[in-house]
Amino acid sequence: MRNPSALLLINIAQLLTLRHPPQAQGPRRGPALKELGIIEDAAVLCLGGKIVSIGKTKDALRDPWLKKNRKKVLEINCEGQVVLPGFVDSHTHPVFVSPRLVDFEKRISGASYEEIAEAGGGIRSSLAGVRRAGKSLLAEKVLDALHEMAELGTTTVEAKSGYGLSVESELKSLEAIRTAAARWPGTVVSTLLGAHVVPAEFRGRSQKYVELVCNEMVPQAAKRKLAQFVDVFTERGAFSAQETEQVFAAAEKHGLGVRAHVCQLSQTALQTLLRFDPASFDHMDHVSDDDITELSRRDAVATLVPGANYFLGLDCYPPARKLIDAGVPVALATDYNPGSSPTASMPFVMSLACTHLKMSPAEAITASTINGAWALRLADRKGSIEPGKDADLAVFEAADYREIPYWFASNRCAFAVLNGTLVASGGSGELG
Ligand code: NIG
Ligand code: FE
Repeated sequence: MRNPSALLLINIAQLLTLRHPPQAQGPRRGPALKELGIIEDAAVLCLGGKIVSIGKTKDALRDPWLKKNRKKVLEINCEGQVVLPGFVDSHTHPVFVSPRLVDFEKRISGASYEEIAEAGGGIRSSLAGVRRAGKSLLAEKVLDALHEMAELGTTTVEAKSGYGLSVESELKSLEAIRTAAARWPGTVVSTLLGAHVVPAEFRGRSQKYVELVCNEMVPQAAKRKLAQFVDVFTERGAFSAQETEQVFAAAEKHGLGVRAHVCQLSQTALQTLLRFDPASFDHMDHVSDDDITELSRRDAVATLVPGANYFLGLDCYPPARKLIDAGVPVALATDYNPGSSPTASMPFVMSLACTHLKMSPAEAITASTINGAWALRLADRKGSIEPGKDADLAVFEAADYREIPYWFASNRCAFAVLNGTLVASGGSGELG
């Protein structure tokens, strides 16, 4: 890891700026998803963790300030490389202790995600480990995931609690996220997912558990500034739309933003949730046509997580083409978690988006950068390479950006820049 105060990347084969196209407002939708703002033979200058200028290499090298200060600047030759905004992974569940290998084998033998959950596996089987663990062990687990993500080009991560499901263990999980975030150079956004499922001790008393989330978890997380968002798993076997509204109302009362897991396994009408102005609806596999029309008029982002469909071995994938063609802003995320999507790789998710969701490579890149930033309400700082924004960059061994989703399941990220700090991939420690 290196943290130079001045950093200059030169001779970049393709710089994908994702700069704001004229006339476009809010998250990218429709044809604007394809506009990458490419500069060839490009340079980027970063100072004090911010991007200060972008352009052609020859123009950058003529800059009078640079001529005078060149010795103080860490210069990296990016010949034969693509530079793009660091990925914004806007949906992850990193606070867990163990992988769920029994569930994995049961699914291979034909059991479904819901059948496994009903038989005592699934989300509830991750609770014991988290409840038993100390905060420092959980923070180590989160930090390991963040490091792996950075090696794959991710520079901003949304991290949810959701495997504690008691006041104490949910707050402990959020504290672990905070501890890990302080030791990682990237940016972390925390989300309270106390309403992930009803824990066994509240079986048959889900309303009582919702009250615990609303009256204890949300107010304490807000008071201690441990979360920016509140999430709910709105699904049969988890929480109803009505219960989701209760949790959202508590979040609103305490000044926290909202987002929800919806339409993953079955359809939920989203209309009643829209009054809470959610930043994002995630999964969306079974979203209705009426809701697609409604969302095309709004800035709530549809965050698609096809890693979960892949890992659960489903035939059905989220209807990305329908959403994009209708004008709904779409983001992509890993959904990193031990049950449905144990991957930290945004490039792999982008590859799935191309092959299974029929998104073009350009659409997949926009969905993984600037629209991820919109889904976290961070688009003023993240998701594009423009002067004034945070110095968050991913540098790939590729002459053409389409290679990023093309070479699937391998890591071609050479290094990433996270708020101005350089992190090499593959543990080589060598840069440039
Ligand atoms: O996004 N659907 C709910 N939550 C996670 C899965 C969590 C788990 O199985 O541990 C998801 O897929
Ligand atoms: Fe999830």
